[in-house]
Amino acid sequence: MTDKASKKKFKALQAPKGVPDYVPPASAEFRAVKERFTRTAHEAGYEHIELPIFEETSLFARGVGESTDVVSKEMYTFADRGERSVTLRPEGTAGVMRAVIQHNLDRGQLPVKLVYNGPFFRYERPQAGRYRQLQQVGVEAIGVDDPALDAEIIALADRCFRSVGLAGYRLELTSLGDGSDRPAYREKLQTFLRGLPLDEETQRRAEINPLRVLDDKRPEMQEMLAEAPLMLDHLSAESRAHFESVTGLLDDLGIAYTINPRMVRGLDYYTKTCFEFVHDGLGAQSGIGGGGRYDGLMAQLGGQDLSGIGFGLGVDRTLLALEAEGKKASSGRRVDVYGVPLGAEAKREMVRIVDHLRAAGISADMSYGDRGLKGAMKGADRAGALFALVLGESELETGSVAVKDLKDHDQQEVALNDVVTHIRGCLGNHS
Ligand code: HAM
Repeated sequence: MTDKASKKKFKALQAPKGVPDYVPPASAEFRAVKERFTRTAHEAGYEHIELPIFEETSLFARGVGESTDVVSKEMYTFADRGERSVTLRPEGTAGVMRAVIQHNLDRGQLPVKLVYNGPFFRYERPQAGRYRQLQQVGVEAIGVDDPALDAEIIALADRCFRSVGLAGYRLELTSLGDGSDRPAYREKLQTFLRGLPLDEETQRRAEINPLRVLDDKRPEMQEMLAEAPLMLDHLSAESRAHFESVTGLLDDLGIAYTINPRMVRGLDYYTKTCFEFVHDGLGAQSGIGGGGRYDGLMAQLGGQDLSGIGFGLGVDRTLLALEAEGKKASSGRRVDVYGVPLGAEAKREMVRIVDHLRAAGISADMSYGDRGLKGAMKGADRAGALFALVLGESELETGSVAVKDLKDHDQQEVALNDVVTHIRGCLGNHS
């Protein structure tokens, strides 16, 4: 069969709908964002936790909440070959809690501070910035109910975004109260909602999850909800003091925020402080990260009654936000040094040089396939290399290599045995 005929017979395969690929060169940006976020969390004392991509379905039903869209409509749930119901993780907090309880991490030093990253899965309607496989870097701080920890978490998310150069975002903040004040507020809200001419589905939502009704974006609903009672006005003295402490600390840290008492988070476990980072360059899917306290979650999952707070930062949306701001998180440099051997003997020598550079921790690549000087130099350019090592017949004769600085177009002859030391020195001057 000819190539053309085989193409006709088999339709070209594509990634599943709503699932992004990150291929070079854009993948360098993806990696840079993920690495910077993760490193920023490590620098604040968070330790890495690696968790399963799938869990028992009941974990999310109990942890995230049956009435949430995430659990009721968006989960990738299937029976495995042993007829157990498993689910691709739609978010990270429930899994972290499960692991903390299972491995008794909560019996040691508190708070337990953890950072994770990876893919999460939600069967949402795909659109710009809304994917079915999404990537997050998340942190959780478990076991201490201290407003200073809320402030740390929020400041950390802010630092993460700044670490990749993002600037055009804002922070929205509220308090959702806790077990002591929420039930009374919920009832008040329900009474208010029952007095409105709601459609059937909204009426049902008002009975199951009245807070979610506040998030209804329809203009006629927003109008009707203008007078709705707000949780922030019904906080207990304790919740209010906690919230005021958090905002005071954020003021001290110089972190700007707006209080949005109508914020509704899509997961049921939240209590007290809740926050979202919003970027205006993204259209409808403007949330680049969010989180909050979840003081009842551990007990809900069968563990001790310890508090917790954390966030999830959307890597995909951060990339879109960077693009909207015309910024790059990575240098775009694949390697620092690129070898250009001209001829068979030079190639043999260059393989050795490149190997030595790599062993010395210097990133290096070389031209393959007997390319001429022009073609090979193009390769160096595409790699974004800082230096090209040109090795031709004349260099071989003198036992040296031509080191070309590709930025200022300087060139130096360096003895073959001195290449690694020389390059190390040059890179030191560059950084
Ligand atoms: P979340 O708000 O559901 O929170 O998600 C966190 C972030 O993930 C969002 O702000 C957004 O940037 C990104 N994200 C969510 N869904 C999508 C999607 N379909 N496509 C692209 N990006 C998306 C959580 O997941 C909580 N576990 C965060 C947390 C940790 N709260 C406490 N600890």
